[in-house]
Amino acid sequence: MSAGARRVVLAANWKMNLVASDVDAYFDEFWRVAPAPDPAIEVLFFPPAPLLIQAVQATRGEAEVGGQNCHWEPAGAFTGEVSAPMIHAAGARHVLVGHSERRHLFGETDEQCAMKIRAALDAKLSPLLCVGEMLDERDQGRQRAVVIRQLSRALDGLAGGALESIRVAYEPVWAIGTGRTAAPADAQEMHAAIRETLVTIAGARAARGIPILYGGSVKPNNVEALVAESDVDGALVGGASLDPRGFAAIVAGGRKAMSALR
Ligand code: PGA
Repeated sequence: MSAGARRVVLAANWKMNLVASDVDAYFDEFWRVAPAPDPAIEVLFFPPAPLLIQAVQATRGEAEVGGQNCHWEPAGAFTGEVSAPMIHAAGARHVLVGHSERRHLFGETDEQCAMKIRAALDAKLSPLLCVGEMLDERDQGRQRAVVIRQLSRALDGLAGGALESIRVAYEPVWAIGTGRTAAPADAQEMHAAIRETLVTIAGARAARGIPILYGGSVKPNNVEALVAESDVDGALVGGASLDPRGFAAIVAGGRKAMSALR
């Protein structure tokens, strides 16, 4: 992202954790310790679907909320699924697409990700497309080819306006929940490759405005160095986001990195 327009996004992915009775206590604590709102910093929560409405209320308009997944059809006989219009009707405005746990535990394909992105855009949700290589793919030096394929297939055929509401998260699978974070320089190299691919797909102007978040064992003590990299526009945080104080510290770290760049 160009320095002038730079906006940092700190996103919490709760995965399949927390229940309704945890939500108010989580946000009471989060708001007590979180840095004051800053227009250059966006804070975003991805709670499980049954907690969406409650999370929208508890974020008081000062943070954004999104779903963790959506089906590609707007409605129908798909027992157990959640549609993009349902997420929007709950007051959320974002949705994760293609998280590695969806791809690798539930067999989600690039083609399904492409359909989900279109469904999200049709429902006026901003999709956060997750891409990232597995350890064996990195060991074989295929990490760039893997993320370029994931991006190209998911975004194929989308026109300019639609691409402006897309966000991307680079999450190397070997770094998720393992305590192994990509070194900031390695993350930057992959983010730059993603940006280049987005330039090809969306054109230079739109690509500059698409936030590219890093995810994979982000913690309060490593977020600042990651976000200090020029193409790392924020973080998608799993485990460490379950502790409201820890996630508030991550927001503070992202903000510090951002202030250093202003
Ligand atoms: P982690 O998860 O922070 O626990 O590694 C990140 C993610 O899966 O989005």
